[in-house]
Amino acid sequence: MGSTLTCRKEKGKKPSWRIFSLKELHAATNNFNYDNKLGEGGFGSVYWGQLWDGSQIAVKRLKVWSTKADMEFSVEVEILGRVRHKNLLSLRGYCAEGQERLIVYDYMPNLSLLSHLHGQHSAECLLDWERRMNIAIGSAEGIAYLHQHAVPHIIHRDIKASNVLLDSDFNAQVADFGFAKLIPDGATHVTTRVKGTLGYLAPEYAMLGKASESCDVYSFGILLLELASGKKPIEKLNATTKRTITDWALPLVRQKKFNEVADPKLNGKYVEEELKRVVVVALVCTQNQPEKRPNMPEVVDLLKGDSKEKLSDLENEQIFREEPVAGYQDGLSGVEDRSDCISEEKDSKEELKEVAGSG
Ligand SMILES: Nc1ncnc2c1ncn2[C@@H]1O[C@H](COP(=O)(O)OP(=O)(O)OP(=O)(O)O)[C@@H](O)[C@H]1O
Ligand SMILES: [Mg+2]
Repeated sequence: MGSTLTCRKEKGKKPSWRIFSLKELHAATNNFNYDNKLGEGGFGSVYWGQLWDGSQIAVKRLKVWSTKADMEFSVEVEILGRVRHKNLLSLRGYCAEGQERLIVYDYMPNLSLLSHLHGQHSAECLLDWERRMNIAIGSAEGIAYLHQHAVPHIIHRDIKASNVLLDSDFNAQVADFGFAKLIPDGATHVTTRVKGTLGYLAPEYAMLGKASESCDVYSFGILLLELASGKKPIEKLNATTKRTITDWALPLVRQKKFNEVADPKLNGKYVEEELKRVVVVALVCTQNQPEKRPNMPEVVDLLKGDSKEKLSDLENEQIFREEPVAGYQDGLSGVEDRSDCISEEKDSKEELKEVAGSG
């Protein structure tokens, strides 16, 4: 296997990735200085850094590693390193020395979608409708590529706003694809039987642990609603009650009140037809039955407005009729059901994230 996984240098092209030394990454990040820290996720901390050639990088330092998974790490990272698409954050390389496992990416100057919707950039309102539409289509294209064209095909498993990064032109770069399955069970505080993030998990994945492309479609639907509305996937109404974004949006859509779904930060500046498209597609993606969800290439066409007939068929689907329909999330039960599958640690991480996101 070794020979197929070496970093090939194609004629005239720079190699797609390389192996970094720990020394080089220490130098780039000022010894993983706290001031360089961009954030922390399930795998460990992410640091900003600068290489000797001046290029800016983000270094993800895994916090726990098991020797059993050692081999798997480099194999997986090398596979992921080959994936190239304009909307996928490509790997610059990795480092595996002693106990240290680090992954190196290009630094994304506009950080994550999360930081613009709910975090440190949210007050600046930099996401106008045109940018949001471009992010929706771009990230859909990136995920469609993972599902259909990457070899082997890749299920992301953790699509969410913090994993959609934004380059200097606010183009979407989907990050962390394929990594969820790399975390050894029990190695980190977020990992439970199910790898993913509360609020974005498809019910069949949360309850049965069945990961498939359609789980990504579900998570992407949640992301679309978040992008259009500026709301979080799960909203705390009071100390005991939570509401999912789908439970909030569906009744409004049934009453054709699309303007009430739109993020107030847009100040009414959006293309009505596009907003409607995004919201309808989002709700079709988040249906409980996986077989009813479209696949990602279909999502791309729908978002681009290339499948107008299909879209109007979808609008007439049962979920958009006024009466409540069995099989879709009714009331608040969905949150409770899905939370049962998430460990306490997972929940507390979510809380931590909310705190971090609001700061
Ligand atoms: N290449 C990058 N450029 C800029 N910011 C980044 C980059 N990679 C990660 N970040 C930011 O660093 C923070 C931590 O990222 P990390 O991926 O570890 O956690 P997460 O996305 O919150 O959760 P998960 O572990 O499920 O991916 C996030 O806010 C993320 O947006
Ligand atoms: Mg991430």
